[in-house]
Amino acid sequence: MSARILVAYASKKGSTAGIARAVARELESAGMTVDVIPLESVTSLGAYDALVLGTPVYAGKFLADIPAFASRFSERIARIPVAGFVTGIAPVWPEAGDPDAITEKFVQAMAPGKPVAVTMFAGKFDPREHGILVRSLGKVMKIPAGDFRDWGSISAWARELPAKMGF
Ligand SMILES: Cc1cc2nc3c(=O)[nH]c(=O)nc-3n(C[C@H](O)[C@H](O)[C@H](O)COP(=O)(O)O)c2cc1C
Repeated sequence: MSARILVAYASKKGSTAGIARAVARELESAGMTVDVIPLESVTSLGAYDALVLGTPVYAGKFLADIPAFASRFSERIARIPVAGFVTGIAPVWPEAGDPDAITEKFVQAMAPGKPVAVTMFAGKFDPREHGILVRSLGKVMKIPAGDFRDWGSISAWARELPAKMGF
């Protein structure tokens, strides 16, 4: 029987959703059965043998309320392997934060889950997707515009998950 894995994500502008789908594709090609759904649509983890959770960071804060999610599903999260990824501009623009500190914060937020893998992926910043305020803020702060998602490293990370999860 193949393991059933839930990839749950939060995403305001879609870049984290795209990463979640790429992670899912990789897990599927390793023989796992995978569902990819927005975090707010998750009603139960009962059907899953493992969880991968992804969220972007906005102004230093996770878009998803990870502690609330972890506490809501704490019983299951404490028992199944969990992994997570954070999306942001910090990996390509250090002024946006320290990726190590951000992933450490993610691990704390996932308690009582003890993630078998946590990483931060470079995301995407397209000023055209934002209103005048964020656009000007991005300009003033010199936030680099572009799609920095590195599909090779995303796939490589996902490929290692089944072994780390014990499947
Ligand atoms: C207003 C704003 C604030 C942001 N703040 C941060 C930040 O503090 N740290 C970071 O690494 N990335 C930051 N980012 C970059 C986003 O995390 C990045 O664009 C991400 O790919 C968005 O994910 P989404 O498309 O799934 O919503 C910010 C982007 C915007 C537009």
